[in-house]
Amino acid sequence: MSLQNEEVEVIIKVKRFSPEKGNWWQEYKLRVDRFTQFTEALRRIKTEQDPTLAYRASCHMTVCGSCGMKINGEPRLACKTLVLDMVKKYESNVITIEPMDYFKPIKDLIVDLDDFYQRMYKVKPRLYPSEQVLKGEAEHRLKPEDQRMLWKFAQCIWCGLCVSSCPSVRNDPEFLGPAAHAKGFRFLADPRDTITEEREKILLDSAWRCTYCYMCYNVCPRDVEPVTAIKKTRAYTKIAKVKTPVIETGEKHTEAVFNSIFESGKIEEAKVYLSTYGLIGSLRDMIFLLKSGKLNYALIKEKPVENITEVRKILRGE
Ligand code: SF4
Ligand code: SF4
Ligand code: FES
Repeated sequence: MSLQNEEVEVIIKVKRFSPEKGNWWQEYKLRVDRFTQFTEALRRIKTEQDPTLAYRASCHMTVCGSCGMKINGEPRLACKTLVLDMVKKYESNVITIEPMDYFKPIKDLIVDLDDFYQRMYKVKPRLYPSEQVLKGEAEHRLKPEDQRMLWKFAQCIWCGLCVSSCPSVRNDPEFLGPAAHAKGFRFLADPRDTITEEREKILLDSAWRCTYCYMCYNVCPRDVEPVTAIKKTRAYTKIAKVKTPVIETGEKHTEAVFNSIFESGKIEEAKVYLSTYGLIGSLRDMIFLLKSGKLNYALIKEKPVENITEVRKILRGE
């Protein structure tokens, strides 16, 4: 489909919501060109066709974080997404827009972000400098290499897209969520901060509850890479004074995966399970796997890869 310099008519189907009526789909037709972002399309729908349509947007330039929504099912910032890009990608002039998943709907595309903010506040999202710095008696400068390392994790615009897409947030009430981990790590790793032990207590157990599915990595419009922050936070486990059962299981699992790859070059699920959860824990999960029809897969005996010595060299960092 060639869309250069063209105006194209699109049909935008919005999943609307009101507390009185529940959900319904509503279609709007409009002409767009190659510069039309979704926030612009929504603005025109609201001003020219339907003033009752509710959505959030402010900066229109990936700064305020207020326009998170699902466009053709993809969690996206509406101001960072061009309508014709989605028309091209899906080869269709019909596009759906829905509110972000997970958060409670308020009206149409507007969701209640209280849950998101509570998660962020839990990680104490500000620097706690030393008393001397606070009194103006000392200056604590950040080295350029530290700033470079922290920069990525400080780019979060609190849009909520990562939290709306995270399976662990939905399934584990103790998990802080991707954005809070990015923010938490940004201060945990800041050499000017003075509450490292408290931050470890807040972040470490939660960090081991992430499944490494990488959804947060994929959807973040600012390339914050929350999952990388979580990986780096886990590394603090080695020096942490207090370890919870979740952390200990996580450490065992990491060691089991390493050993399995070292021995055969592959992750042998059954062995890894046994080493991580012990016999009783493994039997409990085998019943679950049996019921879900996945037991055969878990019991596959992997053949060692050829050239295993090369794999071992890589693992030893040689
Ligand atoms: S990688 Fe972890 S934090 Fe990111 S979406 Fe998956 S489970 Fe959530
Ligand atoms: S980490 Fe990225 S996706 Fe998550 S809230 Fe921040 S900017 Fe949005
Ligand atoms: S309107 Fe501000 S980030 Fe989209």
